[in-house]
Amino acid sequence: MKILVTGATGFIGSHFCVHAIQQGLDLVLLDNFENSSTKVLDTIASLTQENVIFEQADVRSEQDLNNIFKKYTFDAVVHFAGYKAVGESASNPLMYYQNNISGSINLLQVMNAHNVKRIVFSSSATVYGEPQFNPYTELHPRAPINPYGNTKSMFEDVLADLCNSDSEWSAVPLRYFNPIGAHPSGQMGEDPKGIPNNLMPYITKVAVGELDTLQIFGNDYDTPDGTGVRDYIHVMDLANGHVKALEYLKDHTGYQAINLGAGKGYSVVDIINAFEAVNGVTIKHKFSPRRDGDLAAYWADASLAKSLLNWQTQLEVEDMVRDSWAWQSNYPKGYGS
Ligand code: WQD
Repeated sequence: MKILVTGATGFIGSHFCVHAIQQGLDLVLLDNFENSSTKVLDTIASLTQENVIFEQADVRSEQDLNNIFKKYTFDAVVHFAGYKAVGESASNPLMYYQNNISGSINLLQVMNAHNVKRIVFSSSATVYGEPQFNPYTELHPRAPINPYGNTKSMFEDVLADLCNSDSEWSAVPLRYFNPIGAHPSGQMGEDPKGIPNNLMPYITKVAVGELDTLQIFGNDYDTPDGTGVRDYIHVMDLANGHVKALEYLKDHTGYQAINLGAGKGYSVVDIINAFEAVNGVTIKHKFSPRRDGDLAAYWADASLAKSLLNWQTQLEVEDMVRDSWAWQSNYPKGYGS
């Protein structure tokens, strides 16, 4: 299968590319490097020992996309490209709607024009909002609580409407829980610009000495230890979920959203404890007030992924904290090291 991968050099995209190439998929990688490094391409090539086909382009440019779809004949698209910072989405919603919605619709239009009608889309558990029940199943109502989440949920609707209008289309939005970890080689990982918003890159930057103290946002939640509970998933398990979704798309049409999570919840304190125990490093931390917009606890019902995709997570929290630290300690300044 020839696959176009948008956002191929980002955190999740890059891990997907390595895994998919090793599974024998024929990829064309696309990115604009707005939030990633050109060095990722060399890393993908060195980890896979394959030539990497790359096109620098922006999904917001119809012309860029048309040129690429004229050059190659794709069977499907895996669409990772998009903005992903919750706080930034609240302060600059138009930027988020333009990239995550307009850019993504642009991609669908070009796909349609070239008769490429299969897409796997990076969605998020953030589409669910305040849990009405745990674990979240795919039937949990969608009620995101920030513009970033709205863009994911709205684009899911676009995909569903498109599939309803044309029975040749097939779309699988994958609703990610909390992806962490890194490639087990320690050569590839998450490289956020500036001060990280998310827990694991914050922990690794404290461990490497770049940041002083981790703030634990809230210790008075209704959870076993009072800190927030999430479903952490190793990025390599997540990558494999996309390969399985592509296999599913080969012989299914229509729209099918699927959770990708481990089906287990861990608190912030659990993650810190696991990180310290596995890696033998101490993470200086303090309790701080709750962060605006944070939910107390949620995790995935991952049974649909098991039944439809024959996918489940293979890696545990110990693998996640070990691989995150291997990457950060090998590359203290990420791809800028
Ligand atoms: C996890 C837990 C925090 C940082 C967000 C987005 C979601 C998805 C992934 C994708 C929470 C606590 C965090 C820190 C802390 N986005 N925490 N100190 O908020 O579950 O999900 O990222 O692209 O859409 O909402 O992930 O890693 O930020 O937080 O105590 O410095 O860690 O309060 O309980 P979150 P996170």
